[in-house]
Amino acid sequence: TSALPVYTLEDVTKHCSLDSGVWVTYKGEVYDITEFVAMHPGGDKILLAAGGALEPYWALYAVHEQDHVLEILSEYKIGVL
Ligand code: HEM
Repeated sequence: TSALPVYTLEDVTKHCSLDSGVWVTYKGEVYDITEFVAMHPGGDKILLAAGGALEPYWALYAVHEQDHVLEILSEYKIGVL
């Protein structure tokens, strides 16, 4: 699994909308969550994190501190920072 591409923060910040694709980072890994946005139980709030880190938002919305949430996230992994 170490074959995943390495991205820069600049790569991530460019993917900050549904048009450009929605990428986020979490614990040093990069996720393309574009397809998940419409399925998010918390609605469009997820777009606040578009192009950046999930950690500050998940610290505020502790509902994400569950294994099943991390399982969903893991499906969208595309690389590492
Ligand atoms: C709820 C996933 C990002 C705000 C949830 C739930 C999941 C989820 C699975 C339902 C949890 C449950 O009830 O068991 C994700 C994933 C994210 C993400 C995979 C990133 C890829 C965000 C962000 C925010 C956010 C960035 C806020 C800025 C919320 C809120 C709820 C929620 C407010 C509660 C909705 C409700 O129950 O009414 N999220 N989330 N989420 N999420 Fe997210």
